[in-house]
Amino acid sequence: MTTANRLTITTSSAARTRALGRRLAKLLRPGDIVLLQGDLGAGKTTLAQGVGAGLKVEERVTSPTFVLLARHAGPVPLYHADLYRLTEPQEVEELALGEQAADGVLLVEWPERAAETLPAEHLLVAIEDVDGADQRRVTVVANGSRYRRVLDGLNARG
Ligand SMILES: Nc1ncnc2c1ncn2[C@@H]1O[C@H](COP(=O)(O)OP(=O)(O)OP(=O)(O)O)[C@@H](O)[C@H]1O
Ligand SMILES: [Mg+2]
Repeated sequence: MTTANRLTITTSSAARTRALGRRLAKLLRPGDIVLLQGDLGAGKTTLAQGVGAGLKVEERVTSPTFVLLARHAGPVPLYHADLYRLTEPQEVEELALGEQAADGVLLVEWPERAAETLPAEHLLVAIEDVDGADQRRVTVVANGSRYRRVLDGLNARG
């Protein structure tokens, strides 16, 4: 369903969530920020893997276990942050994610750990398990005109 600034897509497998990430990647450009929200195991890293594939970055995207920010080199680099282990929003401020990732696309898992310190303009992708099995409801919300264009692109391509 589509309303002004929001799109909901249901995926039926991890492969389809990766395909959605690949499709999203084609619409992203350096400086873009995508916040990936969802419970443990929702599929945030799975979607990030699709974005990495779509951007044709060198190494496969995995869950960053000890690093807070992984950089994947490529034509457009992919920066993948996982803030799960952070408890103080100030720690995120010190990471200065936006500055570190300025030349690439930034994906942030567990952005709620740092709500106030992340840029207000971003694409929010919220993933929910809907059936306790392989279906996921993926809600994409555009915050800011740049991300409205990304959302329009996702809409245009079905
Ligand atoms: N439709 C689907 N979309 C995404 N993942 C799915 C789907 N169906 C099943 N899965 C499975 O759910 C798991 C999602 O794990 P993933 O690491 O992507 O979650 P996460 O949101 O990054 O979790 P964490 O908060 O621990 O980082 C994988 O094992 C994946 O195969
Ligand atoms: Mg993850």
